[in-house]
Amino acid sequence: MAIRKFGTVVAMLACAAPAFAEAAPKEKEVWITIGADALEPARASFQQKGLTLPAPALEKGGVAMLRVRESQLETLAAAMHDKLNRCAGFIAHDTEAQALAAVEGSTAPQPLAALVAYNINNGPSVNAMLSGVQELNIRNTINSLSTNWTTRRYNVQSGADAATWLKSQWTTIAGSRTDVSVAFFAHTWLQQSVIATITGTTHPNEVVVIGGHLDSINQSGSTAAAPGADDDASGVASLTEAFRVAIANGYKPARTVKFMAYAGEEVGLYGSNAIATSFKNAGTNVVGVLQLDMTNYKGSSYDFGMVQDNTNATLNSFTTSLISTYQPGLTWTNITCGYGCSDHASWNSAGFPATMPFEATMTTDNPQIHTAGDTLTYLGGTAANSVKFSKLAVSFMGELAKGATTGNTPPPVDSGGGGNVNTATYDATLKAPRCTAAGAGCDSGTLLNGRGGLGPEVNKPNTINASCTDGASGTYHSDESNDRLSVATADGTNLAAGKQVTVTATVWAYAAASDTLDLYYAANASSPSWVLIGSYKPSGSGARTITANYTLPAGTNQAIRANFRYQGTAGTCTTGSYDDRDDLIFTVQ
Ligand code: BES
Ligand code: ZN
Repeated sequence: MAIRKFGTVVAMLACAAPAFAEAAPKEKEVWITIGADALEPARASFQQKGLTLPAPALEKGGVAMLRVRESQLETLAAAMHDKLNRCAGFIAHDTEAQALAAVEGSTAPQPLAALVAYNINNGPSVNAMLSGVQELNIRNTINSLSTNWTTRRYNVQSGADAATWLKSQWTTIAGSRTDVSVAFFAHTWLQQSVIATITGTTHPNEVVVIGGHLDSINQSGSTAAAPGADDDASGVASLTEAFRVAIANGYKPARTVKFMAYAGEEVGLYGSNAIATSFKNAGTNVVGVLQLDMTNYKGSSYDFGMVQDNTNATLNSFTTSLISTYQPGLTWTNITCGYGCSDHASWNSAGFPATMPFEATMTTDNPQIHTAGDTLTYLGGTAANSVKFSKLAVSFMGELAKGATTGNTPPPVDSGGGGNVNTATYDATLKAPRCTAAGAGCDSGTLLNGRGGLGPEVNKPNTINASCTDGASGTYHSDESNDRLSVATADGTNLAAGKQVTVTATVWAYAAASDTLDLYYAANASSPSWVLIGSYKPSGSGARTITANYTLPAGTNQAIRANFRYQGTAGTCTTGSYDDRDDLIFTVQ
């Protein structure tokens, strides 16, 4: 079966018949795109067979593009399997132009702008739900899904039975609430997707989606055991627990929340594609999608790998802010699949903002996936790692759908369309990230991540007119860096003179005792005269979020500066060799 997606061929080995086996026997060269992290393992595999993997013609945003002989595709697919346990792992394109589009497309701006203000102000309700998340519940769901049936394959009866079982579990959780429903989403194959809906109280037409895939696969054949405990019973179990605590706490979201267990992901994102396409066709306003695929294996020292391709930069920033706000001390790093590796890609292609926090980096994930060895026992018989993802799902729901749990007061919710927090792009004239469009806020996204020459900080030093360079000592994400800066109105209305705004700074702190963040604003970014907002201590080491409020002065082109320093005293450009400063420029009405 050939899997066609994005007008290209997704190469598969054993998971489905290899698409390239159907191509004409005549030897030809094809263009492929692949995650840049997979190049090294692939090169090593080629070398073992006496072959040479051609050098990439282009590498961008973690995706590499290279030209290989068709006969080498099989070697490459085998290498992806053996070294990385990926089924597809690369995409073969008919033309160079298509390959180029795939490289550019994975980093290109989203087709649909973010529609709402992604702010964090629903602490009491989120914390009430967070305290209810229980590892045992997640473990039990993983256990049932991975042991009740030999396989949850999309086109066999046991795969369909797993969907029926999950629907009944979710229906029990839903209880008697009339604003909560559980339904199948039928497909043209046996297994159906399952969707639980909590209808929003004040913004029911704005939808938050939290999903994972229900199906499993064994790469050695369709009848082989595919417990899929990690891939992806763990994701479904994590979101099932988020749904449970929502109902247990009487949570009534302002926006509609939908929990989804997708059918047929493993054979080409079938279920999520059908659902995302139907939502697009119906004009449904999906304001954010969280994808949980593989959550219970701790493969890396980082707690989360944030998938950068086929995801939305603003939603990714929002998600990492949720981590530092609600699970302080947990860490993340950016990773790239290099292809549409899970259901987030279906939503992204349909034009909706999606994010996918992953259990590891691309090379350190669970080596047992797609085999009979993907069991709960292999995961240590616990769901401890999934608890972090379930809590992230709870905070994602509580802050994106707002509303409140029983006994708590809901925060204001901006109405869709008016509350756009823009993502900055680098302004080569002023030499700092800038949002030129009017909006409810401006977010640096990943542009400021790191410090000077140490880390990935692109366009360093990111201070207006390069007025202040960064300290050069230390190591990225051990020593100090400003990683992200945003400014936004609390009520979701556009930035305007006289409005109260919140500055949110994400820093990497070396130690709370020795580090301080000085925040400044300036009414005129072109010729800044910096006014101190205040000096703030991080709550501990590692990734920390610091917020401060001030009132916007008059001026159409304003800026804020973050000066993060090791010891010393407040200043706009302190001289310490571990100090980092970054500016953000934004339009004010
Ligand atoms: N959970 C995997 C994706 C994955 C595996 C991400 C390892 C990161 C590391 C997912 O279920 C999967 O296997 N996806 C397919 C996608 C394909 C059918 C379009 C894959 O990667 O082969
Ligand atoms: Zn998989």
